[in-house]
Amino acid sequence: LREHEEFTKVKNIATIELGRYEIETWYFSPFPPEYNDCLRLYFCEFCLNFMKRKEQLQRHMKKCDLKHPPGDEIYRSGTLSMFEVDGKKNKVYGQNLCYLAKLFLDHKTLYYDVDLFLFYILCECDDRGCHMVGYFSKEKHSEESYNLACILTLPPYQRKGYGKFLIAFWIVILGRYDVACSYELSKKESKVGTPERPLSDLGLLSYRGYWTRVLLDILKRHKGNISIKELSDMTAIKAEDILTTLQTLELIQYRKGQHVICADPKVLDRHLKAAGRGGLEVDVSKLIWTPYK
Ligand code: ACO
Ligand code: ZN
Repeated sequence: LREHEEFTKVKNIATIELGRYEIETWYFSPFPPEYNDCLRLYFCEFCLNFMKRKEQLQRHMKKCDLKHPPGDEIYRSGTLSMFEVDGKKNKVYGQNLCYLAKLFLDHKTLYYDVDLFLFYILCECDDRGCHMVGYFSKEKHSEESYNLACILTLPPYQRKGYGKFLIAFWIVILGRYDVACSYELSKKESKVGTPERPLSDLGLLSYRGYWTRVLLDILKRHKGNISIKELSDMTAIKAEDILTTLQTLELIQYRKGQHVICADPKVLDRHLKAAGRGGLEVDVSKLIWTPYK
């Protein structure tokens, strides 16, 4: 299948229907062969099962009893909810989600081993149910379990700050995860995370934007007197990511074989102004936290 994907990167499905949206797809996704002749697919917006014909979906909607993603609701603030879905307990959902996400991700390999992943699904909720806005995924137990594997905001919801919200949420989970697993871990030893490479152009823009805002904020408060290591400990952002972000902002100088932060207050203010709005905030008090075991 992977080879198949590599050699026939011709976009097959051109549009999908998902909830009240008709969405144009961006890239090839390796749906099972029986869907090869379809230009359009109909998704159940709750269980993410996909069908070839609208009538099939209509019939499905009459009997599908899900009104939100399967799994635990771990955050609710206003109309926004986040659900944690364990790929092992919800295999089909995880696979459906990967097929769907691949339609908007260019260079990601599809993981069929959804068992190994947790999926965090962000939803906007109303009286008809919880409608998926986007998600991120993270490997459960590996050397790099703190890495974010994949992030997606569905096209109708893009450019509204949800991407930044998802990144911020992931960072919250990183911090919380430490607390939940081992109380004796001091803040200094807490884990740092980084998104899996390669990043898409939009992915890089979103991360850069998020990192920039967080780092500028702290630099301003500490008047620039802080090291990259300390920034990393405070933010759970990996030192390399901090370095490249600050280099892009020209806040780094190389002196005596070392990278040092040179944060001129005027330059900081200029960058802060340009960084613009912070996006939707994660309200940590709204977490309904049951850590994954
Ligand atoms: N053009 C220019 N800049 C953009 C665009 C765009 N189309 N989209 C996002 N950005 C930049 C902007 O700087 C924006 O900040 P601003 O609105 O304050 O200027 C910033 O990214 C974040 O915008 P959000 O609204 O918070 O992000 P959004 O909800 O649109 O989601 C995401 C961003 C997840 C990358 C989305 O574009 C997406 O799903 N793309 C397809 C999938 C993808 O590429 N995912 C990342 C792959 S890499 C990985 O997964 C580790
Ligand atoms: Zn369904």
